[in-house]
Amino acid sequence: MTNPDITASTTPRINRQRLIQLLHDFAQFGLTARHGVSRLALTQIDRAARNYLIELSQAAGFQVRIDAIGNIFIRRHGSHDLPVVMTGSHGDSQPQGGRYDGIYGVLAGLEALLSLNDANITTLHPIELVMWTNEEGARFAPAMMGSAVYTGQLKLETAYAIHDQAGISVKEALQDIHYLGHDQVAGQPIKAYIEAHIEQGPILEQEQYPIGVVHGAFAQRWFNIELTGMAAHAGTTPLHLRQDAVLGMAHCISALNQLALQPENQDVRLTVGMVQVQPNSRNVVADKALFTIDVRHHDDALLDRLTLAINTELQHIAQKYALTIHIDPCLNMPAIHFSPECCRVIEDAARKHHYAYKSMISGAGHDACHLSTIAPTAMIFIPCIKGISHNEAEAITDEWAHAGATVLLESLLTLAQNHESEKP
Ligand code: GLV
Ligand code: MN
Ligand code: MN
Repeated sequence: MTNPDITASTTPRINRQRLIQLLHDFAQFGLTARHGVSRLALTQIDRAARNYLIELSQAAGFQVRIDAIGNIFIRRHGSHDLPVVMTGSHGDSQPQGGRYDGIYGVLAGLEALLSLNDANITTLHPIELVMWTNEEGARFAPAMMGSAVYTGQLKLETAYAIHDQAGISVKEALQDIHYLGHDQVAGQPIKAYIEAHIEQGPILEQEQYPIGVVHGAFAQRWFNIELTGMAAHAGTTPLHLRQDAVLGMAHCISALNQLALQPENQDVRLTVGMVQVQPNSRNVVADKALFTIDVRHHDDALLDRLTLAINTELQHIAQKYALTIHIDPCLNMPAIHFSPECCRVIEDAARKHHYAYKSMISGAGHDACHLSTIAPTAMIFIPCIKGISHNEAEAITDEWAHAGATVLLESLLTLAQNHESEKP
């Protein structure tokens, strides 16, 4: 429904050239030799990308605020002081990540706001673009940290105290890059949150859909595992007298994979992506092995059962190798179900622009998962080539970038034009 309060001179359109340029320009922050991006959260490279986003936003006349966990809020005012329509994603990347994971959603959102400026449109509701802090969890676990604090899922002081591997805390890192903000942004009424993101899987491309309408996300559990044995001489200590933490870890990893492959665990995604060994010397039997487990499924109950089985199995293996084990759960996110109304808004937007769309569930975690606990939320996916993501080779086409931003703009407009009393 079109609202009489809206002043419009032309129909807003995504400026494809500008969007592609933005994607190119932001890829320079942390560009790797293999054309990917390395932009870990709260590093000087992250700071440079944040500064540039703010510079562009202020030049366009948007209001910028930064909260206590470094989330950046970029507001385009509406004609009325009504609940905000939000969009956004994250600006950090994996250590050797791609050019689109996260930043695509931020820049599609920025381009949507800029196109509203170009068309001289004043929406009824304000629209706010957010760049969330530390979505990846690569430097500081857990992932989705900024949105977790914003939505009250994680206490600010708990997040501040989390350290990276060099012993730097989140609070120190925020101070180092001058992004320890003071604005109290959480608590504002939100009409809806729509996040655009690359799919990070192969389905949309394979089935030739330019748009995915995301109805929810897998549940996920993260654990830090610490095995402790005894350091010993590699040449003099007979095998049967060792308490070898590396051997225990190897057995654990193999057993985890076997568990995940059981028929009753179909569709489980289980990953050991980070391992560390101490003292990490070739002629010392290691006394410590640390590794991570990331396990996901769309069914919470199945994941609960599997988590119990993992616990039992790991304890058993530790005992077998005379090791002590410490299992530290560091993320527990239930399966997420997004707002059917918001999905409908996205579907209508895709139809209006003649884009075929597929309804899907995300295997990846997103800031939208946390936002869905406080506001009607949904996501727009675009394909990525061969589904490659968390990899420097991550790639999209200009057409897909344009399609996603167009559907995002249309969805934001619909949400920001309707009266608050109307469903999103
Ligand atoms: C986010 O990048 C995830 O691990 O799902
Ligand atoms: Mn992401
Ligand atoms: Mn990611």
